[in-house]
Amino acid sequence: MKNIAVFTSGGDAPGMNACIRAVVRGALHHDVNVFGIYRGYNGMINGDIQPLTSQSVSNIIQRAGTILKSARSVEFRTKEGRQKAYEQLKAHNIEGLVAIGGNGTFTGAQIFYEEYGIPTVGAPGTIDNDLYGTDFTIGFDTAVNTALNAIDKIRDTADSHDRVFFIEVMGRDSGYIALRSAIGGGAEMAIIPEKPNSLDEIIEKLKIGWGRTKRSYIVVVAEGKQPGNATEIAQKVKKEIPDLDIRVSTLGHIQRGGAPSAVDRVIASRMGLAAVEALLSGKAGIMVGIVNGRIKYTPFKETFKHKNEQIAEMIRMVEVLSK
Ligand code: F6P
Repeated sequence: MKNIAVFTSGGDAPGMNACIRAVVRGALHHDVNVFGIYRGYNGMINGDIQPLTSQSVSNIIQRAGTILKSARSVEFRTKEGRQKAYEQLKAHNIEGLVAIGGNGTFTGAQIFYEEYGIPTVGAPGTIDNDLYGTDFTIGFDTAVNTALNAIDKIRDTADSHDRVFFIEVMGRDSGYIALRSAIGGGAEMAIIPEKPNSLDEIIEKLKIGWGRTKRSYIVVVAEGKQPGNATEIAQKVKKEIPDLDIRVSTLGHIQRGGAPSAVDRVIASRMGLAAVEALLSGKAGIMVGIVNGRIKYTPFKETFKHKNEQIAEMIRMVEVLSK
């Protein structure tokens, strides 16, 4: 393999740049040329492809976002779109790909690999931490730290006013940000898509907590299928317990920005280097992850499985530790 390309796709995540840097410098270390594909699969289709040098990735390890830009490509979902992408890669003599992204990215990569056989290795870049085959995805730790920072500040004002706050964090189908920031922020409750609570349950828990010792109450809510989840739940609760002084705070896209944490910079660098070396050693159709401190390769198809191992334990922790 003499020419490979790297791209980022889907929602950006802090640490993606550190990963790009590791892929580029790893490839150059092995005397392989490396191209950057801009704007994810859209750039592959449109030929938005440029050679990258060691200098191209200088001074980016500490920056969030992605120097290669990102997109959620609708055209790549079509056969015609993927055909155009294949032709562009051929025209640039690109023989292998490193894809940095989440489950949408790997779904596309798997289909493309099956259709055109271009070896592709993935690195998990998403704040959601919803990929099977890695303990942590790139960007998750920074997103949780951002959420925690906000929760701490909201707690200050919640406490002064004896208020209940519903704080919505990101994670479309995944409660990992919600659970981890609830534990770290000492929240009283976490509401997540993997184990949805009934309204009765939420009200019951609130009444018990409030009646006992609580004078401020933080409920961390994963956004669920669409943002606005926390607002909806808060309105229903207010209807049932009108005496509660309730406020809602939606953290939104601030969770995707900010300098990557040390954890994210290091795992992104490690996964980026491992991804490029896996590709050069002949591996394909897999994601590189880190499980129990070791590099692990997982076929793309398996990365979509739900990884519920720690969910039950984390829910229990929120309950026990908030009493
Ligand atoms: O990339 C993950 C994520 O941030 C999810 O947590 C969230 O549901 C979604 O992306 C938001 O996507 P967009 O930025 O396209 O609105």
